[in-house]
Amino acid sequence: MLCQVHSTREAYRIVKLANGMHSVHSLAHRETFHPVIGPVAEAEALYVNQLRLPERMAGHTGEFVIWDVGLGAAANVLTVLRATHGTSCPLRIISFDHTLAPLEFALDHAAELGYFTGYESTITQLLKDHRVNSTDGNREVVWELHLGDFPEFLRSHAPTILPPPHAILFDAFSPARNPAMWTQLLFANLFKFLDASHPCALPTYSRSTMLRVSLLLAGFYVGAGHATGEKEETTIAANTMDLISEPLGKKWLQRARNSTSAEPLWEPIYRQAPLTPETWDRLQQHPQFK
Ligand SMILES: C[S@@+](CC[C@H](N)C(=O)[O-])C[C@H]1O[C@@H](n2cnc3c(N)ncnc32)[C@H](O)[C@@H]1O
Repeated sequence: MLCQVHSTREAYRIVKLANGMHSVHSLAHRETFHPVIGPVAEAEALYVNQLRLPERMAGHTGEFVIWDVGLGAAANVLTVLRATHGTSCPLRIISFDHTLAPLEFALDHAAELGYFTGYESTITQLLKDHRVNSTDGNREVVWELHLGDFPEFLRSHAPTILPPPHAILFDAFSPARNPAMWTQLLFANLFKFLDASHPCALPTYSRSTMLRVSLLLAGFYVGAGHATGEKEETTIAANTMDLISEPLGKKWLQRARNSTSAEPLWEPIYRQAPLTPETWDRLQQHPQFK
């Protein structure tokens, strides 16, 4: 039923946040996309600044690839595009979502949301063709969209089908409302699309133990992520320790052992459970804790 109601513009509302910014709200999921500090400030804190994207792109040779998981109203991508406008390395953005309704809705409300300015025709073309090739300052930008169920995409395609990412903007709804996007299998499959020779980091807004255990078992290194103004701590995962400034350590491991909500979601059904003995064994074997 959720599938039917989230795919029309009527399923979304604009909400005004306490700081005066506007954000998109999904009636079907009963969640606001960027609920406290607003879309641009959250994208800057969580992705642009934490990943040092302007610096990383400035020092990068070849194409820089960003996967945008949960395109939604495109606030994350447009904030990244604006913040890295001065760089010259070619950029490829690969967005994933199973509906374009929030983007169509947001474009209708571009004046309140503010962050579309200058990118309206890019978004119109992305909506129409699912691909935009553009020149943005001194760089070439390719933005492509994969419309469909993201877990199913990962399950049913070989990793070679897409260029491996250097950064992943992971922005699904919360695990309680959108469990299919937070299963251990999803992160295990996602990890297979990374290339060990391409350092890649994935920040996300949740700091839950269940998420962190899922990422570790998938093969990622995991650390505490920057505060965003909304959350005092978030999570960053990467395929190399070099991209993690505050790796989770033995103290966190002990907290995870005592937590009542640490066992990954093995099925796309939300529940909370302590670690099973088998998961605890696997967790301790992770190279991060050796
Ligand atoms: C919080 S919103 C993303 C906000 C967006 N990143 C932005 O900057 O505006 C979460 C998005 O995840 C998408 N999503 C949820 N479940 C999905 C699935 N199974 N496959 C693909 N996309 C999904 C939703 O349609 C929604 O647009």
